[in-house]
Amino acid sequence: MASPSSAAIFILFLLSTAWLLPSEAQLPQLIKGIKVGGILYCSPDGNYCPTCQGLVGVNVTIFCNIGSNNYTTYALTGPDGIIDEVLDIVDGLLFGITPISCVATVQLPVLNCALLPTIGLLQATLIITGNLISGLLGLLLKAVVGVFHLISVIH
Ligand SMILES: *[C@@H]1O[C@H](CO)[C@@H](O)[C@H](O)[C@H]1NC(C)=O
Ligand SMILES: *[C@@H]1O[C@H](CO)[C@@H](O)[C@H](O)[C@H]1NC(C)=O
Repeated sequence: MASPSSAAIFILFLLSTAWLLPSEAQLPQLIKGIKVGGILYCSPDGNYCPTCQGLVGVNVTIFCNIGSNNYTTYALTGPDGIIDEVLDIVDGLLFGITPISCVATVQLPVLNCALLPTIGLLQATLIITGNLISGLLGLLLKAVVGVFHLISVIH
């Protein structure tokens, strides 16, 4: 019954349906990553101060608990202390449905900043903005680094 051409048309129909469905506003969107933005300052706590400079070349760990999975990535701060990194989510997450909780941490000491303590860890919760942008592998959810707090190492 099914000629090759009608099968091809059916497949095209399936593909076009699959393509159209995610654009329906009421459906949850599959997110393939989190785009993290922020700035690390050379200040007593890593946060902004009017006279403080951005801290360049520091390794920032980004850790997320998404659904029942954990994801970690590392980002080196760029010029002016800018943090700009994408955390890939292999399995994806459903925006507005999958619970997300992320932190950015900086292990102390760091070079080139005498204002920061020399022991402990800076930790900031990531604020999920809800803004979506297109990335190479799919939709990305934007997040910004919140306020850093100094966490002392337990002896
Ligand atoms: C950042 O730190 C992690 C964990 O120690 C390490 O695996 C990674 O290579 C570091 N990244 C850079 C660019 O130094
Ligand atoms: C994810 O991380 C949390 C917090 O560190 C930990 O309690 C949990 O066991 C981890 N889950 C998995 C699946 O590794």
